[in-house]
Amino acid sequence: MSLHCDIELPPAGAQENVATSYPTVFNWEYKVRREELMRLYEKGKTAQWNASSDIDWSIDVDPQRVRIENIEAFDAVLQQPQKLDVDTRRRMKHHMDSWMLSQFMHGEQGALLATSQLVNAVPWTEGKFYAANQVADEARHVEVYRRYLTEKMGLSYPVNPHLHTLLSQIIGESRWDMIYLGMQIMVEGLALAAFGLMRFTQPDEPLIQQITSYVMRDEARHVAFGVLSLQDLYTHEMSSTELKEREEFVIEATVLMRDRLLMAEVWERIGLDPKVWMPWSLTTPFMVGFRQILFSKIVPNLKRLGLLTPRVREKFRALDILDYEGLPDSTSEEETTIPPALINFFFKLQAAGVKIPGLGGTGPH
Ligand SMILES: [Fe+2]
Ligand SMILES: [Fe+2]
Repeated sequence: MSLHCDIELPPAGAQENVATSYPTVFNWEYKVRREELMRLYEKGKTAQWNASSDIDWSIDVDPQRVRIENIEAFDAVLQQPQKLDVDTRRRMKHHMDSWMLSQFMHGEQGALLATSQLVNAVPWTEGKFYAANQVADEARHVEVYRRYLTEKMGLSYPVNPHLHTLLSQIIGESRWDMIYLGMQIMVEGLALAAFGLMRFTQPDEPLIQQITSYVMRDEARHVAFGVLSLQDLYTHEMSSTELKEREEFVIEATVLMRDRLLMAEVWERIGLDPKVWMPWSLTTPFMVGFRQILFSKIVPNLKRLGLLTPRVREKFRALDILDYEGLPDSTSEEETTIPPALINFFFKLQAAGVKIPGLGGTGPH
């Protein structure tokens, strides 16, 4: 099926100007101080790929496919607020995937702009080198999601207002470490986990598997770049007032991403009452697990940076995401760990006799 369509625009239209205030720094010394960053830069250069020729775009995608064989048992586990007919179910699947992939694409554009700012703002030569390498990666990621959405899904969503708030805040930041912290640690950490989950839940969609594997390999390097660049900064080089601002930013961004990045737009567009469906989506085990897993990368990385301070820790405990602090950080672990809540959910489905082809109970990669 070939669909080809334009990307949906937000109410403000196709272009938006952002006022920026980040500093721009020449480095005339060209000295390399962080060998680890240089190694990452080398890795980045050899791991380049071409979205036009390395991805098999001839693979057909049925964006409305519903793979579940035993719908009644599935519904009994899910306890949706209304019974859905086959057509609505197929449309819901199509819209949810399109929403998710659209937000990936918008986040990728945010990363593209933020990383180009880092080339200017980061004071060290090796930081500029790596950031430049990442700019090319992010352009490719925007390219690949744009193409999937316009050629395979035939459906897209404008940037979610809360994601827009967060991205604008990061792009408008004047302190370079906050651009790193917002983009490389928070947004990319969240994206890395979401990509991992998408690969786990769509095992029989070979094109999305290809794309996600390539993108995740890049993103894992990007998060590692953030962790390596910021290490020591928060534990050795900052005053308590400066540190407090970072804590506040982390808490604010976490609440925004955890509690407000919801698919509210989807319900309306497919004709389901958001007042009925939103409360369900906030409490159903799959979505609870999903909203938790998004932080599986962020929490260990913040810990490594020394930002899991008592204040942040207390907030994370209240949000039920502190358990991730024991996981390896992104300098050593690329894969996503699926949380027990979600594994249990899939076991429950299996126990109820729900067959989801390709999802064989073996857990994630
Ligand atoms: Fe990216
Ligand atoms: Fe990235």
